[in-house]
Amino acid sequence: MTTRTARSLQGTITVPGDKSISHRAIIMAALAEGKSRLQGFLRGEDTLNTANIFSALGISITGLEKPGDITVHGRGLHGLREAADILYTGNSGTTTRLLAGLLSAQPFFSILSGDRSINQRPMGRVITPLRQMGAAIWGRQDDSLPPLAIKGKQLHAICHSSPVASAQVKSCLMLAGLYVDDQLTINEPVLSRDHTERMFRAFGIKVSTTTGKTSPATICMTPPAANFPGTDFIIPGDISAAAFFLVAALINRHSSLKITNVGINPTRSGIIQVLQSMGGAIAVENQREACGEPVADLIVEGSNQLKGVEISGTLIPSLIDEIPILALAAAHAEGVTVIRDAQELRVKESDRLQAITLLLQVMGVKTEPLPDGIVIHGGIQAPTKEPLSFTTFGDHRIAMTAMVAGTTLENKITIDHPECIGTSFPGFAQLLSNSCQ
Ligand code: S3P
Repeated sequence: MTTRTARSLQGTITVPGDKSISHRAIIMAALAEGKSRLQGFLRGEDTLNTANIFSALGISITGLEKPGDITVHGRGLHGLREAADILYTGNSGTTTRLLAGLLSAQPFFSILSGDRSINQRPMGRVITPLRQMGAAIWGRQDDSLPPLAIKGKQLHAICHSSPVASAQVKSCLMLAGLYVDDQLTINEPVLSRDHTERMFRAFGIKVSTTTGKTSPATICMTPPAANFPGTDFIIPGDISAAAFFLVAALINRHSSLKITNVGINPTRSGIIQVLQSMGGAIAVENQREACGEPVADLIVEGSNQLKGVEISGTLIPSLIDEIPILALAAAHAEGVTVIRDAQELRVKESDRLQAITLLLQVMGVKTEPLPDGIVIHGGIQAPTKEPLSFTTFGDHRIAMTAMVAGTTLENKITIDHPECIGTSFPGFAQLLSNSCQ
């Protein structure tokens, strides 16, 4: 795979539907009673794996084979059926962890297994609290890794304090909490993305959240007394996908790009705040709401000079998936950028701190490793004319970062396994190439 060198990104684009919301929309539509229409559903490998799992659990989903809306024919809270085979989660942590919670409460047996990367990702963080709820769930290596075997049973409510701000842990427990007989409470060190809470509320399920902007959060939910009817979902564009275009436009200085219909949920939009504090010209226009989620159009102008910043603390959960592309922005900035409190990046689709370090080193950027982050000294010194070869570790966000890096380099670029981008952003390379002038 090679990339083309840009001087600017121009035009108006849209990005695919939000991955986190797409997973949750399939799940909630399957548990609702009757038809739900999903507009903007992401047809990436991760979310298609979630859809396939629900088909295997007896839910009819139509419209997946062609572009446009899809329809999920929900069978109510107690309508899932035991699957005849292993449920394949592919590369998707969200599918694995959210379904671990849901399936723990079903009256049947399930096995969740994924690809090589997913079967190395930590599951103790969901297995431990699920067992406290009474779940019969096991995993490889002392119940720490997938595949997961689950013998569903009646669960009970708990109060869980999660040491990590993880929406996957929270949502796992909230899905299990649909089937208990009392109020479930989850404490998080910082509020993680709150799409599940918003969706539950949209279905009339009582969820309360207590938090300050930077203080710990407490989420309480009351299980629904009865089934809820299907509905229409409007899924906004994914800010985590838009992030690659925001940075691509900023680092190609004659750019002027509009990205329409992007979700700007405050628990996800730390990237905008950080890029603006680096001096990036990003305007947030036409703010509105769709299905309980804030949405806007983003207008970004290329930058003469970005500045290094510190990215740490309570900001981290709101931009956790954007750190690879923020690291590239930091490489183009003047001065030093320090990223801390991001130890979670070591257990994502790859060890992203290591993957970012290698990527920046290929471009001749000076970095210093931290156990929970990285120090980046702005300034690119890629050897002129030599071909450069980027390693993705099969991680979609590293591969997209490498492609964006290529837009400012004169060198011939090689990126291994670019097909991993299909996990979250089918059509990315084409859209980037079409936007580059
Ligand atoms: C996600 C939550 C985040 C994020 C992931 C998607 C979700 O993971 O990194 O890409 O949809 O709930 P954690 O909750 O483990 O931080």
